[in-house]
Amino acid sequence: MIKMPSSYDIIYFSEANKMGKKYVDNYWDFIGADTKEYTHSFHIYPAMMIPQVAREILSRYKNNDMKILFDPYCGTGTSLVEGSLVGLKCIGTDLNPLARLISKSKVTKVNINNIIKLLNNFEKLTKNKNIKVYQRPNINNLDFWFKEKQIVDLMFIKDFIDSIDNQDEKDFLLVPFSETLREVSLTRNGEFKLYRIPKEKINNWNPNTIKLFTEKLMRNINGYKEFEKKNKLFNHEVYNFNSSEEIPNELIQENSVDIVITSPPYGDSGTTVAYGQFSTLSNEWLGIEDARKLDKKLMGGKTTDIQETGFKVLDDIIQQIAVEKPKRAKEIWSFYRDYKKSIENVSKIVKNHGICAYVVGNRRVSNIELPTDEFTRYVFENNGFKHVETIIRNIPNKRQPKKTSPTNKTGNTVSTMTNEYIVIMKKED
Ligand SMILES: C[S@@+](CC[C@H](N)C(=O)[O-])C[C@H]1O[C@@H](n2cnc3c(N)ncnc32)[C@H](O)[C@@H]1O
Repeated sequence: MIKMPSSYDIIYFSEANKMGKKYVDNYWDFIGADTKEYTHSFHIYPAMMIPQVAREILSRYKNNDMKILFDPYCGTGTSLVEGSLVGLKCIGTDLNPLARLISKSKVTKVNINNIIKLLNNFEKLTKNKNIKVYQRPNINNLDFWFKEKQIVDLMFIKDFIDSIDNQDEKDFLLVPFSETLREVSLTRNGEFKLYRIPKEKINNWNPNTIKLFTEKLMRNINGYKEFEKKNKLFNHEVYNFNSSEEIPNELIQENSVDIVITSPPYGDSGTTVAYGQFSTLSNEWLGIEDARKLDKKLMGGKTTDIQETGFKVLDDIIQQIAVEKPKRAKEIWSFYRDYKKSIENVSKIVKNHGICAYVVGNRRVSNIELPTDEFTRYVFENNGFKHVETIIRNIPNKRQPKKTSPTNKTGNTVSTMTNEYIVIMKKED
């Protein structure tokens, strides 16, 4: 049964195809909803999808024949958790190692009693800490980003985690470790980019690393217990392939996926959300090489000369921006180049009558809105899909800059985004 939206305003935006509607729907605001249920509480991350969005898409579009959900930009795995809760096998991919660690850990079966034992052992150890010389982690400017007391405590926790044999249990503890190290570092909390807190605040900066870690681990244990009670199927795969390049056939076969639920980045990392920078310190503590090069590998990270995307509205906008800002126009084109390729590849692995739900943002550049929702629809339509509907939702509390400074002058801001577009497409051969 399809639920009717509480209030909506139908805007037909294509005379040629009136099948699909586009409307603003306040039902999708989910004001006051608990976005941290189950394992959704595990770790903060930029531009997370709220679980209620994935849940509502599943409640409207999942049918009993569906078996496989795929998310080509799975981030911390919001749609994988929701898919698992309704009994789907969930497959995700993300180029960010931190995102993969978090999403895997959210949907992997562990023996929670073993985790509780580990927590107890850890707490005992903290009471009679031996003086031990640890190997310092290989992190650029370690002393610039952390004070010595926090470094020592983090090394103590990491040493404990490294001694765990079972990889899934180890990962379960690495998630709160990563969140803790970010919180005790000298980066400004509330910023996704790597900025250091002001000098005058550093002296008084003395967070309790051990306490934060144990609290977060306890919170995750509780979230996991709730998830385990409700979870119908622990069956997932989390990969690190780039769907703009290819979706390896040996991992996901053509015409095999029933439903795709995803929230792609809004633009290239350099000028929108820097997932790589947000994750740098965690990835480095986790021993990932080249962590600082990650943003360049994400969508739009490699710029090339502007060509046509084929979607005239967008091509005209890119040309218009290119007149005054050629570099910015190149970055925009490069993002849509990768995004288009990814949709083409995703289209192939979806079954006939399968659903793709893309939650996208239309960001503004030079005060012009980039119509990512319509571009998404256009590319899918050229790859055997029909438009079902586009739901426009308000983003009431997303941790996402609503204002940007187009001239980089303080106070000179324009609104970048207050809505999110849920574009629903159906494959119809
Ligand atoms: C908006 S976030 C997804 C958030 C996710 N829905 C969640 O709830 O946590 C977009 C993700 O796309 C990933 N990404 C960007 N370019 C990618 C690419 N070419 N291939 C795979 N993942 C990519 C980023 O690392 C980031 O985690």
